Amino acid sequence: MDIDLIGVPMFYGCDREGVELGPDKLRELGLKELLENKGSNVRDKGNVVVPFASPDMKYVRSSKMKYLDEILTTAENLASEVEDSLKRGRLPLVIGGDHSLALGSLAGVAGALGNRHAVIWIDAHTDINTDQTSPSGNVHGMPLAAAMGVGPTVLLSVHGKEKKVLDRNVYVVGARSLDRGEEKLISDSRMTVYRIGDIHSSGMQAVIDDLLRRLRESRISDIHISYDIDSLDKSLVPGTGTPVRNGLKLEESAQLVEAIMDTGLVRSIDFVEYNPKLDKDGRTAESCLYMLDVFAGCLGRQTGRMDIGRTGS
Ligand code: ARG
Ligand code: MN
Ligand code: MN
Ligand code: MN
Repeated sequence: MDIDLIGVPMFYGCDREGVELGPDKLRELGLKELLENKGSNVRDKGNVVVPFASPDMKYVRSSKMKYLDEILTTAENLASEVEDSLKRGRLPLVIGGDHSLALGSLAGVAGALGNRHAVIWIDAHTDINTDQTSPSGNVHGMPLAAAMGVGPTVLLSVHGKEKKVLDRNVYVVGARSLDRGEEKLISDSRMTVYRIGDIHSSGMQAVIDDLLRRLRESRISDIHISYDIDSLDKSLVPGTGTPVRNGLKLEESAQLVEAIMDTGLVRSIDFVEYNPKLDKDGRTAESCLYMLDVFAGCLGRQTGRMDIGRTGS
């Protein structure tokens, strides 16, 4: 697979410093070599420009969304990069940074692919708050709602005003920390949420089978994976801003990622919320590398497009 690495050194969406060091730390740990060793051709596009802001600029544009201007500028920059990579037939691997960057990656995906794609959001959270429902004002809790066309116009207008994904093509896996407004949006929309309870009661394979069946029936032609490392259990990722207990094990996460990757339809990937500053004994780095190795293995094996449904039962 031909891969474009794109770093997004931004913490504005989570308002907690350290996560902006993620992209360079992962490079230092050998991300490019990892992908190459598994058979991919990798071009490192470097980091997108993230404007500087001091803490007193937090509420300049909005009292409900911190660092709004800086997040929007970064998202525009990222959207252009992602769109450009996709149009060249390369797979953008976007390394965060906090999850608000998905405003940009999903806008770039929509710019290049239209709306025949699915978004698979692997996360302890659903990130479907709006400025009105957010308990924190942190924009990393809002990008998926915005992508579906829900929320304030400023967030919906990144790189074009159209919806970045249809709600019926949105799947969240691993959710276990949801706010009230998010629960309401789930019931009012057609998105699919596989909660940690579903995964633990039916098993990951049953969830995968259901997901693949829905993808097949929906006739989507492309997939974007947005991988938030806090989907993993808290014990595996001390180095993330909003860790949540009772999360996925590495093996479960690998099983999920492999099944999705093996559809042959994944065109772009976000990998977000690794905060080296908060890490303890390199445990988070290790978990990140484990998962990136899983992605790398799948990407390296990929020669052409396989039929959706080749994996699973
Ligand atoms: N739901 C909470 C909020 O809106 C937490 C969001 C955490 N999101 C993330 N990408 N880690 O603030
Ligand atoms: Mn465009
Ligand atoms: Mn999360
Ligand atoms: Mn998230």
